[in-house]
Amino acid sequence: MALSHDPSSPQPAPAPQGALTVLGLESSCDDTAAAVLRRGRDGRIEILAEAVMGQNAAHAPFGGVVPEIAARAHAERMDVLARSVLADAGLNPRELDGVAATAGPGLIGGVMAALMTAKGIALGVDAPLIAVNHLEGHALSPRLTGALSFPYLLLLVSGGHTQLVIVEGVGRMTRLGSTIDDAAGEAFDKTAKIMGLGFPGGPAVERCAQAAAAPERFELPRILARDKSCNFSFAGLKTAVRRVWDRLEAPTDADRADLAAAMQTAVARHLAERADRAMELFSQRFEASDTPLQLVAAGGVAANGAVRLALASNAERRGFTLIAPPLKYCTDNAAMIALAGAERLALGQIDGLAAAARPRWPLDADAAQTDPANGSGRKGPKA
Ligand code: KG4
Ligand code: ZN
Repeated sequence: MALSHDPSSPQPAPAPQGALTVLGLESSCDDTAAAVLRRGRDGRIEILAEAVMGQNAAHAPFGGVVPEIAARAHAERMDVLARSVLADAGLNPRELDGVAATAGPGLIGGVMAALMTAKGIALGVDAPLIAVNHLEGHALSPRLTGALSFPYLLLLVSGGHTQLVIVEGVGRMTRLGSTIDDAAGEAFDKTAKIMGLGFPGGPAVERCAQAAAAPERFELPRILARDKSCNFSFAGLKTAVRRVWDRLEAPTDADRADLAAAMQTAVARHLAERADRAMELFSQRFEASDTPLQLVAAGGVAANGAVRLALASNAERRGFTLIAPPLKYCTDNAAMIALAGAERLALGQIDGLAAAARPRWPLDADAAQTDPANGSGRKGPKA
C-alpha cells in the first residue's frame, strides 16, 4: 500500500510549519515542464507560475517518442524553463522551501534532465530535494484545482500509463489494475501510425472518427472479454486494427473514419468496463463509511470525448461523480510534481542528493510484488 520510495535516499526531516513554496520539474516523457506552487498552511494550493514545452514536431516524423531526441531536448531546455517560471513567479530561488523533480518512472535520459537540474538548484540555494514519483504526481493532480477529498478512484490513461488506483492520501495508493502490454495512448498512437494520421495519434484518431458514416461497420474483438480483473490490454486491438487495414485494398477517407471510430469505441468500452469493476470494488471497500464516490479520469486519453462519455455513463449508474481535471493538468505537467513535492515536504519527507533516476518505479509496491506481471522489472509494462 505504501508508495515505494528509493531506500537509498529518503531522509526524514522535521515537518516544516507554515506555507511552502516549491519548484517542480518534469521531463519523464516528451514534455519539458516547470512550475512554482505555494501550499498554504491549511493545505490550500496556489500555482504561482507554470510552463510546458512539448516536442511533438521533433517526434512526429517517427510516429512516436524517440528517447534520444527527447532526452536532448529536455537537457537543452530544463534549466532555461526553471529560470523562466521563477522569474514569472517573481521569486528569488533562495525563497524556495524545496525543489521537486520527477525521478521516475519514465525514459531515463529524460528523467535525468529534471532530476539533475533540481539537484543543482537545491544544492545552490540550500533547499531540500524531493524526488517525486511521476505517477504520484498524476494521482494527486486533480487536487491542483480544487478541494477533492481523499479517498478517490483514479483512472490514469495516457501514452505511458493505464492504471486504476485508489488514492487514499500522499504515499497511500492501492493499484487495482494496470495494462498488461501497451498503454491506451500508445494504442491510439499506433492506430494513427497504421492509418497515416499523424502524431500524436489520439487527437488525430478522434478527429478522424468524427467523420465516420458507418461507425459500426468494422467489428473489432472485445478486449479481455472473459477476464473480470481491473487489468487492461491494448496490444491485440492494435493487431486487429492492422489486420482490418491491410485487408482494405485502396483505403478511402471513409474507410479511415469508420476504422478510427471502431477503434475508439473499443478503447472507450474497455476503459469503461474496467472502471466499472473498479468502482464496484471501491464501493465495497468504503461501504461502511459515508465516503463520497468519486472517479477521477486523468491522462491525455481522458481528453477523448467517447472515453469520457462511456465513463460518465457507467459512473452515473454506480452513483459516482466523474471528475475530469482541466486538460493541462490531465497531461504531463510540472504543477503536479510541485504539488507532490510540497505534500511530501509538509510531511518531512525529503531526499538526499544521491536520489537516483528510476526508469521503473511502481506506485504501489505491494501490488507490484504480489502481481509481478504488473509490477517493476522487464515484465512490468508502464508501471
Ligand atoms: O498524458 P499525456 O500527455 O502524456 C503521457 O503519455 O504521459 O498523454 C499523451 C497520450 C498520447 O498517446 C495521445 O495520443 C493521447 O494521450 N491523447 C488522446 C487524446 N489526446 C491525447 N487519446 C485519445 N483521444 C484524445 N483526444
Ligand atoms: Zn505522465
